Order: sequence, then C-alpha cells, then structure tokens
Amino acid sequence: MAKRYRDIVGDGGSDVDGQLEQLRHRLSSRLASIRHVVAVMSGKGGVGKSTLTTNLAAGLAMKGHAVGVADADIYGPSLARMLGVAERRPKPGRDGVAPPRTVLDIKVMSMALFLEDAQAPVVFRGPSREAFTWKGMLEMHALREFLADTDWGELDYLLIDLPPGTNQFATLHDLIRPAGSLVVSLPNRLSREVVGRSLVLARQVLKAPMLGVVENMAGYFCNGCLSRQPLFDRQAEADYDGLPILGRIPFDPRFVDACDAGRPYLLDYADAPPGQDLMGLCDRLCDRLATVASAKEPCL
Ligand SMILES: Nc1ncnc2c1ncn2[C@@H]1O[C@H](COP(=O)(O)OP(=O)(O)O)[C@@H](O)[C@H]1O
Ligand SMILES: [Mg+2]
Repeated sequence: MAKRYRDIVGDGGSDVDGQLEQLRHRLSSRLASIRHVVAVMSGKGGVGKSTLTTNLAAGLAMKGHAVGVADADIYGPSLARMLGVAERRPKPGRDGVAPPRTVLDIKVMSMALFLEDAQAPVVFRGPSREAFTWKGMLEMHALREFLADTDWGELDYLLIDLPPGTNQFATLHDLIRPAGSLVVSLPNRLSREVVGRSLVLARQVLKAPMLGVVENMAGYFCNGCLSRQPLFDRQAEADYDGLPILGRIPFDPRFVDACDAGRPYLLDYADAPPGQDLMGLCDRLCDRLATVASAKEPCL
C-alpha cells in the first residue's frame, strides 16, 4: 500500500513510509489495551446491525464489562443517535480524542459526532482523477483514525458497526484483524442469500475469522398467547456456510422507539423475551470469544 501510494503521487520529501509506519505503530499500541475487537457485519442493509451493536454493547456493559463502539458506517452513521450522544462532540485530549460516554459508560466514536447537523451528508473532497483510489484511501484513513486516534483506554470489548456489504469489512481487515465477526441476517430467503454470498467472500477471499450469525426479527411475541410466531418465510432453512447461529432476536416495535430515543432497548426491557434473547446472545458471544482466545477452538 505504501509503495502504491508513493508510486502514484511521489514522496515529495514527506517521508510517507515513515508516516505510515508511525500510524501502524499507533494503531497496534492502541489496540493492545482492548481485549476483544468484534466486527458486526452483514451483506444487507436494514437488518439491524446498528440496533444489535447498540444492544450488545449495553448487554455486555450490564454484565460489568468495559465496552466501546466504533461506527464504521462513515456515510450513514447511526450509533451516536441510537446511543443518545448525537449532540455531543469528542474532546481532543493528550492521548487522542476522548470519545463521548453514554449510559453504562459505553464509549462511542462515530462520524456523526463531527457533523454540524444531523442532515449534513459526508462527502470526501479529493482530486477528480484517481477519485476512486482517493475515496477508498480516505475511507480507510477515517476508519484508522477512529481506531487509532480515539482514547479508548482499557476495554474488554470494542464493537465495530459496519455498513452493508463487504467493502468496509475488507478495509477493516486491511487495517486490523478483529478477533472475529458477527453476521446479522433476517430469517427470509432473500436476506439469507445475500448474507450468504457476502459470507463466502469474507471467509474465502479475506480469510476473516467468523464467530457466528444472529438472525434478527426472527418471529414476534403474540400479545395474546405470548408465544413466538413466525414473521417472515416459515419454510426457509438457515444455511450460513456452516456457521453457528448465536441468537435469534424477535421483532418488537419498541426497538424502533428505543433507537429514536437514543436509549438501548435492553435498558428498559431486559426482562421482555427479546431482552432475554439479547442477553443470551451476549453470553454466547463471550463464550465464543473466550474459546477462540484460548485457541481451544479456532474461529470458523
Ligand atoms: N428486532 C427488531 N424489532 C423491531 N425493529 C427493529 C429490530 N431490529 C432493528 N429494528 C429497526 O429496524 C431499523 C433498521 O435497523 P438498523 O439497526 O439501522 O439496521 P442496519 O444497521 O443493519 O442498517 C431501525 O429502525 C431499527 O429500530
Ligand atoms: Mg447501520
């Protein structure tokens, strides 16, 4: 990457190699104080990645862990809103930018925290020639700064919420190697197909370690009989390239209200069936990470 950059634009005496080396060093020393970095990804948009990242963060924090969340969805950031810190600004400090802390002391970093208002679009200004290369590099740089220049402190878990598709996922894997990734899907044939395709790419091309799948909006709880009813395709069999399903989270309209109110659903509804399923998901995620970390079982 350093070579390609220098071949295209020249060094100009700015010691590009040295700067990149410094960045790499900063990134790895920052990540050294974080026990587990977990990416939340999906081939598909609107499946609940950000909602689940928010609630996984809350669930892990409720279990006593130190948690941070990084919003890697540069163009459609939503974590700051969902965690109620959209109006706050990160503060520059001696050891990087101090991320706003939200309920349960969760640290949040998102592009939304740097935008003047909620409607402001994110546009990178680069030269028009080589625009594609520049855009990719600028995206990578933004992500690297979120990870390396944020004062995360000591964390047990850093969850990275990705945009749909595999582009940013690939960028993340160029920068760091997360302990593992969690894949979000919906229990219908279309989502399973799209997610399955991105999964094959992630595993075969990027060799990304995967933890498992979460199926979101997996049924709903009937108010009358309190039993779980299917919401989508009743027949479709789940097949995610052999990955285990770590959780099935039901549909509950109160997720939408909680997201809009900037308060994790789990804070108010931990005892409701979807809340219990979320807590179960947190437990299984921790277990998977523990077995992967102790190499009792390799990541899939
Ligand atoms: N289990 C659920 N029940 C009801 N609504 C949900 C659920 N999960 C997510 N949502 C809602 O679906 C919408 C999309 O979720 P979001 O997390 O933004 O998806 P993504 O990050 O994958 O694009 C949001 O309005 C969110 O509140
Ligand atoms: Mg999202």
